[in-house]
Amino acid sequence: MMPKTMDQEIEALRERALAAIAAAQDVKALEDARVKFLGKKGELTLLLRSMGELPPEERPVVGKMVNALRDELNEALEARRSELEEAAVAARLAAEAIDVTLPGKRLAKGGLHPLSQVLREIQEVFVGLGFEVVEGPEIETDYYNFEALNIPPHHPARDMQDTFYITEELLLRTQTSPVQIRVMESRKPPVRIIAPGKVYRVDAADATHSPMFHQVEGLLIDKNVTMGDLKGTLAEFAHALFGKDRGVRFRPSYFPFTEPSAEMDIECGICRGSGCRFCGGEGWLEILGAGMVHPNVLRAVHYDPEEVGGFAFGMGIERVALLKYGIDDIRLLFESDIRFLRQF
Ligand code: DAH
Repeated sequence: MMPKTMDQEIEALRERALAAIAAAQDVKALEDARVKFLGKKGELTLLLRSMGELPPEERPVVGKMVNALRDELNEALEARRSELEEAAVAARLAAEAIDVTLPGKRLAKGGLHPLSQVLREIQEVFVGLGFEVVEGPEIETDYYNFEALNIPPHHPARDMQDTFYITEELLLRTQTSPVQIRVMESRKPPVRIIAPGKVYRVDAADATHSPMFHQVEGLLIDKNVTMGDLKGTLAEFAHALFGKDRGVRFRPSYFPFTEPSAEMDIECGICRGSGCRFCGGEGWLEILGAGMVHPNVLRAVHYDPEEVGGFAFGMGIERVALLKYGIDDIRLLFESDIRFLRQF
């Protein structure tokens, strides 16, 4: 076989080198190709060195060809490098592209606890009737929780509300009624307030009891207030919360701080008065206690019972929620089970 002539060899090298450059898929492969052909021990460099073996008259011609090839390869390398760099930038831009038209992440939306919902409804009704919302302390003195409410020491009514005592004098309030006293002490009649809040009693938790629950207290004091005002106000409230078609009735009752005292019932929402399991066969459900404020209570806050009088009422918010939503266990309201709470 004939030995290759020098220009054939150069042409073969050129083709291999251009092919390697074109085949380089990244900057690293391109650099490898550069070293392979143009590096210190690269093929073109070796070829240049071997020129010493050529007859002197051929050297300038071959030298020119080799130099031309080196320039060509350098240009090809440069062109391929910018191609690869542009492709890398384009790939990164594509990978990092943000589609601003995609929908955003929705925030999880919370909801009001059924007790909060019921309390808000109750407040709305009474605020609409001109009552102001006030609050009082959960840690009370014996005086405000009992004495000023016409419940002296050893009064049997104390046994109805088993009390968490902190000291002899300090206790966790068993009812929101002490707020009545605090408000009347601090202002002159007329008074029209409701007072929502937590109350505490020594009770084991079961379907109808909880050691902590919520009440809303109401108090209206003015001149010439009658039992008719009490009935009208509370019937209005019941109808607003439970619907106009729900029957309402008042029964005589006893509370030390009212005289006369009453309890209000609403018609059972399940059986509509005929008696069922939900209402214990009664047809009616008790919803609140109320009455005309006792003269002793008025005297305790230095109001003159001959001049002014009024009515008061108190209701359990849990009880209203249970009746309104047909829930049969008060503990559901305190367990924070999201499956239960989601239904409201
Ligand atoms: N404080 C009473 C209770 O916890 C409820 C009550 C009844 C409040 C009659 C009143 C009222 O203001 O007049 O059982």
